Amino acid sequence: MTNIDYIDQLKWRYATKKFDSTRAISDNDLEKLLDAIQLSASSYGLQPYEVMVIKDEETRKKLHLAAFEQPQILDASYVFVFAANTVIDEGYLDRYINNIVETRNMTKEDLSGMKNMIMNAVISQSAENKIEWAKKQAYLALGNLLSAAAHYQLDVCPMEGFNAAQFDEILNLKEKNLASAVIATVGFRHKDDGLQHTSKVRKPKEELFNRI
Ligand SMILES: Cc1cc2nc3c(=O)[nH]c(=O)nc-3n(C[C@H](O)[C@H](O)[C@H](O)COP(=O)(O)O)c2cc1C
Repeated sequence: MTNIDYIDQLKWRYATKKFDSTRAISDNDLEKLLDAIQLSASSYGLQPYEVMVIKDEETRKKLHLAAFEQPQILDASYVFVFAANTVIDEGYLDRYINNIVETRNMTKEDLSGMKNMIMNAVISQSAENKIEWAKKQAYLALGNLLSAAAHYQLDVCPMEGFNAAQFDEILNLKEKNLASAVIATVGFRHKDDGLQHTSKVRKPKEELFNRI
């Protein structure tokens, strides 16, 4: 699908309800999608989330029950759980600063102004505010996943229809200082999924955009 116009790629994608459980996405395709998530923009570059990449059938059976038995959880190749970091403290920031130091061959002193700014703007916020903010960043990564998957002709269903507390429990996220934010199932559409043939329902541009 790489030679196809980007907008046509976006028209091709849809939130897949019925996946073809007989087809599995390749390791190479999986890595492309993980690359797209990794390359997502985030506020200050902090990437305050982790993504669980779940193939294991037993785990998926449990998640299926905790996601109102939506069939995508069982039939897709993978379930991605975007989980916000719940401990975003000075130690977290220091690990990010160290990454910049190593990646860009800089010194910590070079980055002291940046560190102070992020300490004031982000780290000093309440835990609740930080988790909300972290979840928003995770949604950006989800958006990137949707676009990248369309580009590679892979199918995704983004999903909020799940019990986050139960997901956290099943995946032991609390122990990892994570809280599930949003999920996505990834695989191939089933040829019988009628939704792939339906027209996109979107606000008209006159309503969506205010050009001033
Ligand atoms: C954040 C988010 C959560 C969603 N949750 C669900 C869900 O739990 N189950 C589902 O079948 N579809 C879910 N959808 C799919 C939307 O219904 C779908 O994206 C929307 O109707 C637009 O259709 P399209 O994506 O096929 O163009 C979700 C979409 C988004 C972006």
